[in-house]
Amino acid sequence: MEYSFNGLKVFTKGNKNHKPIIFVHGFPYDHSMWDNQVDTFKGNYYCVTYDIRGLGKSYIGDGQYTMEAFVWDLFSVIDELHIENPVLCGLSMGGYIALRAVEKEPERFAGLVLCDTRPESDNNDGKVARSNAIDKINVEGVESFINDFVPKCFHNKTPERLNDMYEKTFATTKKQNSVGVKGALIAMLSRRDTTNSLKDISIPTLVLVGKKDALTPPDVMQEMAKKIKKSKYFVVPKAGHMAPLENPEFVNEKIEKFLEKNFTNEK
Ligand code: MLT
Repeated sequence: MEYSFNGLKVFTKGNKNHKPIIFVHGFPYDHSMWDNQVDTFKGNYYCVTYDIRGLGKSYIGDGQYTMEAFVWDLFSVIDELHIENPVLCGLSMGGYIALRAVEKEPERFAGLVLCDTRPESDNNDGKVARSNAIDKINVEGVESFINDFVPKCFHNKTPERLNDMYEKTFATTKKQNSVGVKGALIAMLSRRDTTNSLKDISIPTLVLVGKKDALTPPDVMQEMAKKIKKSKYFVVPKAGHMAPLENPEFVNEKIEKFLEKNFTNEK
């Protein structure tokens, strides 16, 4: 099913009476990065994806986004679909949203899957890099930024090993709107640090990171996992920063075991 709520494009697959999983995509991608996981889990779970504002088919507006607004959007998806106690699964920027959402309103969620993300906010160098990226988009256009950024997200062998997926992802991403991409950069640059609240996360949490993730490397993710009481941490072979796309077999197996162990199919 496809829905539009508050300018957000929302997609659901599976039986609404099954345990809900909400997948939140990374930057500068869209909901389709979770296609493989949705196809795998739609038989036993109610799978929800959506395009974060400014990206994919969601509303773009003036690009003045904040991480807080991204979290309000997530809450609005949950409320509009009348979802109870979902498992929240976020990759990278989707993980920033998930961590802030759980920090803000922990009682809403039953479990957490954090892929290739981090709790720390941007440091000074990170803020400068975001500013440079915005400048590059202003001067050279969004495609030039995407051409530089997307290859950094993948393991260096992925373009050859999974050429169709890589080219399709690249082509979709190049179509993103420059105002939306810059807005997401500003939202990430100005986001709150969630490190201090990791110790308060009491729901079962799965932490997955690509072995060759250059943006949120395994040591960063392992430190994060250590601070979350009920967490399980796995390194995903043959993957960079986009583990669910680069090694879906491994990622799906870990998610499936995590779901089976912690949740029943019924709500
Ligand atoms: C992402 O994959 O969402 C981005 O790499 C996040 C970031 O740039 O911090």
